[in-house]
This record gives sequence, C-alpha cells and structure tokens, in this order.
Amino acid sequence: MEKEIKRTNYCGELSLNDLNKTVSVVGWVSKKRNLGSLMFVDLRDRSGIIQVLIKTDSIEVPDIRNEYILNITGVVNKKDVANPNLKTGEIEIEASEVVLINTAKQPPFIIAEKTDALEDIRLKYRYLDLRRPNLLKNFITRAKIVKIAHEYLDQNGFIEVETPYLAPSTPEGARDYLVPSRIHKGQFYALPQSPQLYKQMLMVAGFERYYQVARCFRDEDLRADRQPDFTQIDIETSFLTQDQFLTLMEGFVQKVFKEVIDVDIKLPLRRISYDEATNVYGSDKPDTRFDLKLTDIKDLFVDSEFETFKNAKYIKGIKVENFAKDCTRKKQDTYNLLAKKFKLNNYFVIKYENNELVGSIVKFFDEKTKNGLIERFSLKENDVIFIAQGNILRNVNFGLGALRTDLAEELNLIKPHTFDVLWVVDFPLFEKSEETGEITPCHHPFTRPVDEDLDKLETEPYNVYSYTYDIVMNGYEAGGGGLRIYDQETQDRIFKILGFSEEDIQRKFGWFVESLKYGTPPHGGMAFGLERLTMVLCETNNIRDVIAFPKNLSAVCPVTNAPVNVDDDQLAELGIKIVKEED
Ligand code: AMO
Repeated sequence: MEKEIKRTNYCGELSLNDLNKTVSVVGWVSKKRNLGSLMFVDLRDRSGIIQVLIKTDSIEVPDIRNEYILNITGVVNKKDVANPNLKTGEIEIEASEVVLINTAKQPPFIIAEKTDALEDIRLKYRYLDLRRPNLLKNFITRAKIVKIAHEYLDQNGFIEVETPYLAPSTPEGARDYLVPSRIHKGQFYALPQSPQLYKQMLMVAGFERYYQVARCFRDEDLRADRQPDFTQIDIETSFLTQDQFLTLMEGFVQKVFKEVIDVDIKLPLRRISYDEATNVYGSDKPDTRFDLKLTDIKDLFVDSEFETFKNAKYIKGIKVENFAKDCTRKKQDTYNLLAKKFKLNNYFVIKYENNELVGSIVKFFDEKTKNGLIERFSLKENDVIFIAQGNILRNVNFGLGALRTDLAEELNLIKPHTFDVLWVVDFPLFEKSEETGEITPCHHPFTRPVDEDLDKLETEPYNVYSYTYDIVMNGYEAGGGGLRIYDQETQDRIFKILGFSEEDIQRKFGWFVESLKYGTPPHGGMAFGLERLTMVLCETNNIRDVIAFPKNLSAVCPVTNAPVNVDDDQLAELGIKIVKEED
C-alpha cells in the first residue's frame, strides 16, 4: 500500500499553544548538530522552521544530512533557552519517530534566509533558492495581489477574457519575439507585447469592462525592473472619463496595499503632470519620498562671464544639505559617469564653506550671481549644489533626476517601509525619436489627444498633450495606460502626422483600424505591471526576486538554459535555415 505522510501541523505554525501535544511534521533538514547522544535538527517546510531534538540512544535514527526530507513525530516541549531568531524559538519537538522520506544531493549553496551565494548560482539552482523563506514570501505576496485583482475587478463588473499569444505584431514599441509558422512557412506570429489591440476590439464588441492577467513578451534590453516575459493586470473600460477611470483604479490600489501589507493609501492619489514630474524631479516616474528638487537657475546667468552657462539654454541644480565635506573628488568622478549617460559633460559642483561659494567655476561669477545662487538654494554651511546645463531640456532634467535618485540612496534619504503612490498625467502625445529624429507616439498611435489640443495637432504636434497616465510607486512605473481614439477622423490625422501611408496602415494593423469603423465606444484602460507592483510591496529592487524562473541579464533562463539549439528536423519543418554569423 502507498505509504502516507504523517502530518498534523506545519513546522512554522507550532507554538506554545501546542505544548505537550504529540505532533507530526514533514520537511527538509535545514541544519543538523550532533552533541553526543543528542542531535538537533532544524526542520523546514513552507511555513517556517522548527527545532527537533532526537535522542539517538533511545530511538532508531536514519542517516540525516542537510536537505534530506524527514517525517517526524514527537512531543512539543518548551525550550530552556529560547531562540529569538526563530518564530518557533520557544519550543522544540522531542522526536519519538524519525522517518526518512528522501535523501538529497549536497546543495551547491547553503539554503538560508541570508546567503552570500552569487545570483548566477542561485538562479541555476532556482528550485533550491526558492526554498529560502524570504523568497517564498514574495510569491505569496504576488499571489495575493492577483487574487485581490480578481476579486476587485469581478466586484466592479469586469469580465476576464483571454486573448491569443500567437498574434500579429502590435505597436508597443519594443522588439517582438517571433514564432515561425509550420503551416505557413516563412510567416511568423509575434508573441504579444501586450493585449492592447485585442482589448480595444473587446470594447468595440461591447464587453465594456475587460481584464486579464496577461503574459507579455518584449525583446528589449534587460534591467533590474525588466524581464522579457512578464505579467500585466490588463484592464480596459468603455464610457468612462479619465477621472472616473483613475478613481476606479485607485480603489484597486488601495485594496491591494491594505490587504497585502496593511498599509493605508490615502485617496484620491496625488496627480502630477508629466511636465511637473520631469521639471521638478527630473523623472517621469518620480520618487517623492525625498526632496532634492531641481531648481531652475538659468536666469542667474543671462549675462554671465562664464560662456558655458551664458550659452546654455537650460541650467538647473539640486542642493544636497550638509554634504560638501563628504563630496570628494573621487565621488564627483563617479557621478560624472552618470552625467555622460545623459549626454551631459559633467555635473558642476559648488560647495558652500565658510560662508563662501567654493568650486572651480565660482571665479567666473560676479557678486550678484553668487548672492543669487546662495539665495535661490537657501545655502547653509557645508551644503553643496550640483548643476547641469545643456540645450536639451530632457537631458538636463533626466540627468539631474538620475543623480537625485542615486544621492538619495547613497545618503539614506528614503525612510524604509514608506510608500509613495501617485499618478503622472498629461503626457505629451508625441516625441522626437532619439534614433531617427522623427516624430513618434509617446505611447502608441491609438492614444487620444486631449480635446483642447485637437486644433494644434498638425501645427504644433509636440505641444499636444494626451489622455495618458502612469501609476508611479516609490519611483517605479507600476502601470500605465490611456484613453484611446474612437473617431475615425482623429485617427486618420494622427496616422498622417506619423507619416503612415495607407499601405503601412493596412499592412501593420489594417484589421484593427477596420474594427474601429463599426461603432467604437469611447474607451480607455491601463495595465499594471504585476512584477513591479509585487516588487514595491515586497520592498525589493530586483525583479528576479518576484519571478519564479526569471531570465538573467542576457535573457537566458539559467535553470533550463533556454534559448537552446533545436534539431535540424524541427528547423526543416519550419523551412528555416540558420545562417552562421561570421566572426
Ligand atoms: P506599458 O508598455 O506602459 O503599457 O506597460 C504597462 C506596464 O507593464 C510593466 N512593464 C514591464 N514589466 C516588466 N518587464 C518589462 N519588460 C515591462 N514592460 C512593461 C510596467 C508598465 O507600466 N498596452 C499598454 C497599457 C495600456 O495602454 O492599457 C502597455 O502595455 O509596469
């Protein structure tokens, strides 16, 4: 007969309430100590760890090593000396029976909350890494968020609909993952970057409130908050204004924070415009838990003798209090590496020491300018200002914004366990592509321009704003979306401005444009990045901490080694020949 595992309790859930009870637990050996005829075993299951005392003289004991699975029965006793590091630290089980369920190879790293194993090794043996309780906690958090999404959206009349993974390419802006078709050789599906166009067609269909926990695929450079396959809580609604929609979404955010980590988020959420976010915080996803705001100082240098400042279109600075002495030359050199990423030559550093401005460029300033700076930044002894200048506002803003974030971290300006949730709204409709210099949509070509700017579309396209919004949490873009164009005339104008020919449109998304001609309701929505939301709630800055089997920074799955070569037969069936790149 199949042998049953005996279990009355989970290891981590035992407490003083169970004193003197006989219990059975099953789990992995996390630690073992032999003290003559006494053996202490820390047994771990998904709920936590319990210490087991085994008197090796009195009962039969199998060979026990780390990560072996044991089924233990015994009595719960109070320990003479409690272990404050363990939730169950006041008690232990004195074993009366120890059954070996399975042996294990020696793991390549010690499985414990804190580990100094390199991430590469941890990801290769991810199933062992996931035994670490702190990681498991992240997945419980993630699952709770999804459950709350289902509950909240269901309560608010949303219908969950799945859309295809084998899809045509959609205009989300990243590179597609392509899937070759066997039946139609030479033709490809694209894995969806998001369900964007499908969900819009569901609005045309009259579903009115749609959602989906959708996997999305984007072949883009990876970062600490980006993966090639990730999950969105994807939402679309009809007949709501932007304000009505954001209010509905805020209800979800509030519920998630309350029910998952018991944090009260005050509604309505703060809304700041894209212009304010970038001008004041130097970011379109500002972390407003700390100050270090950007201050415009161009006006102080209109007649300056310092040519660089005189000629610069934009000059802005941030003040860091009480940092002058610690802001060494060496540190400034590392900050300047960051400046280069934003096409800035450097950050000019000016210190305020002994009631004087100190810095290599100060000699070019007259008294009026110096006093102007002292006043503008309300400088006090040992303060320091970082100044960026240039002719492209975005570089000056984002360059200082990146320094702002780095300095906040270096100087511990962010109080732990604080949550900053806000909307960034009023994004421009178009931007100039950095690669081609051509006009491109900031979001996608179906984003609705604000009504007030419709007559500026052709004449001042870069001054046209759109009904778009991002939800920003602790400096992460945790979601984003917008209202969509629903009238044909506006859509045609946008296509024209973007330089799409009729043929382009037909080829790229003619099928979608056709669908909009059959009575499209005013509609809009957004997608939350499930991983980003989970990262914020788990207070981790590594997206891989909230994905069971993540890719590494070179987009490889370290457990399975995907992507891998495939058999020639498989390729032949698809009509594909691999051309070897020449070295
Ligand atoms: P967007 O492209 O802004 O919008 O994506 C929405 C949210 O998805 C998350 N996200 C990612 N998370 C992890 N790894 C990635 N590579 C990644 N890319 C995006 C972010 C982001 O805010 N269809 C539109 C939404 C809409 O308009 O309704 C869309 O996909 O948290």
